Amino acid sequence: MNIAIVGSGYVGLVSGVCLSSIGHHVMCVDNDREKVKKLRQAQVPIYEPGLEELMVGMMKKKRLMFTTSIKEATKKAKVIFIAVGTPSKANGDADLTYVENVAREIAANMNSYKLIVEKSTVPAATGQRIKRTIQMNLLKKYQQGKGKVDFDVASNPEFLREGSAIEDFMKPDRVVIGVESKMAEDLLREVYKPIKTKMVVTNINSAEIIKHASNSFLATKISFANALSQICDRVGADVLKVAEGMGFDKRIGRSFLNAGIGYGGSCFPKDVDAFIRLSEKSGYDFTLLKDVRQINEDQKKAFVRLIEDKLWIIKDKIIGALGVAFKPDTDDMRNAPATDIIQALQCEGAKIRAYDPEAAHNAKKIMKGVTFCKDIYTMAKGCDSLMLLTEWDEFTKIDFKKIKQSMRQAVIFDGRNLYHNRGLEKLGFEYYGIGRGV
Ligand code: UGA
Repeated sequence: MNIAIVGSGYVGLVSGVCLSSIGHHVMCVDNDREKVKKLRQAQVPIYEPGLEELMVGMMKKKRLMFTTSIKEATKKAKVIFIAVGTPSKANGDADLTYVENVAREIAANMNSYKLIVEKSTVPAATGQRIKRTIQMNLLKKYQQGKGKVDFDVASNPEFLREGSAIEDFMKPDRVVIGVESKMAEDLLREVYKPIKTKMVVTNINSAEIIKHASNSFLATKISFANALSQICDRVGADVLKVAEGMGFDKRIGRSFLNAGIGYGGSCFPKDVDAFIRLSEKSGYDFTLLKDVRQINEDQKKAFVRLIEDKLWIIKDKIIGALGVAFKPDTDDMRNAPATDIIQALQCEGAKIRAYDPEAAHNAKKIMKGVTFCKDIYTMAKGCDSLMLLTEWDEFTKIDFKKIKQSMRQAVIFDGRNLYHNRGLEKLGFEYYGIGRGV
């Protein structure tokens, strides 16, 4: 099938590459000329394991192309996915300017039946608004004497995670489609035919809410685990054992119960905000989600307080950050908890050194006064303590004996409980995890 994807960000690019790999002809569109130029030269703008190889393979087979022209893509494709950004406005609302602009431009260039599918995370009823925008623009065309064309709008939220995006896309737990016609349903079933999974078919509004609800529920699980970690520290319990004990209950499940320094990234913080706003606007005060957000903020502050408490005077102490990305296997720094934590410590006068295998180039753009080092051992030299902020696999292979010799004080704050049973204490480190009953 000929498919267009408008917006070549994380979701758009991964979807485009994966849809071409299951047999479709895909044209990815982006209005950033520089990005499109690089993509055409097979340069991937993000760090995502496996993406570049798959992309290059699909480009060679001529099943994947890149353009800046919505016109070109619209004319060629039958199914057009909208995967542009929906950033947060100051009041927490999702900013849908890009979505509206794209819908207008698609309408202006429709030459035959098109199925327009929203893939960006959008508030409920956005599908209806896209439909109205297209209808209004088509009406203008008819009035100018141009021929009639039919279209459908559908919603197909994406659930992929950064760092495991390809696997998530190819082997999803489910595919959700929100449709208004049999034609739209059949087309989307055809698109996803090679992917063997459950398909949830519903109306557009429900599909939109499923995405908001899923991300908000996962954020709630994390905040619940983080709140538990606070209690565990106070009563001498171990949050890891508590999560294990809870997780065996099939109704609860162990995943997303890892306490740490809070969730970050381009999705959870923005989507929780947007769901709170959406609820408010619909007349419901979603206080549970407000607490989820607050717990997430408090968790970062609690980590800073722990460091202040154990290091005593922060001014002029040298603290080494192991990882800065919002999670491992990505170079994404958007809403990374590391940013707030490092800033708070800098405000107290700490000197921060940092190492991240992939995110340093992005982190340098937003973190001022941080010394980024080429490897862990260089970074640790002369440090008064280390703090683990991202659980990169590489950090499980550190030679801590070697590191200890070069540090001024052997103190480690493990913001992700990565070293929960690796015996750092036996090596002579003062070790502090999250919610371990300290
Ligand atoms: C999230 C969802 O998991 C995806 O299903 C969704 O498609 C995506 O948002 C989106 O809306 O586009 P992502 O933000 O890539 O994916 O990353 P996650 O793996 O969900 O992690 C989000 C944050 O939660 C990270 O900062 C991570 O460190 C934190 N986290 C996760 C915890 O603190 N504890 C956990 O137990 C799990």
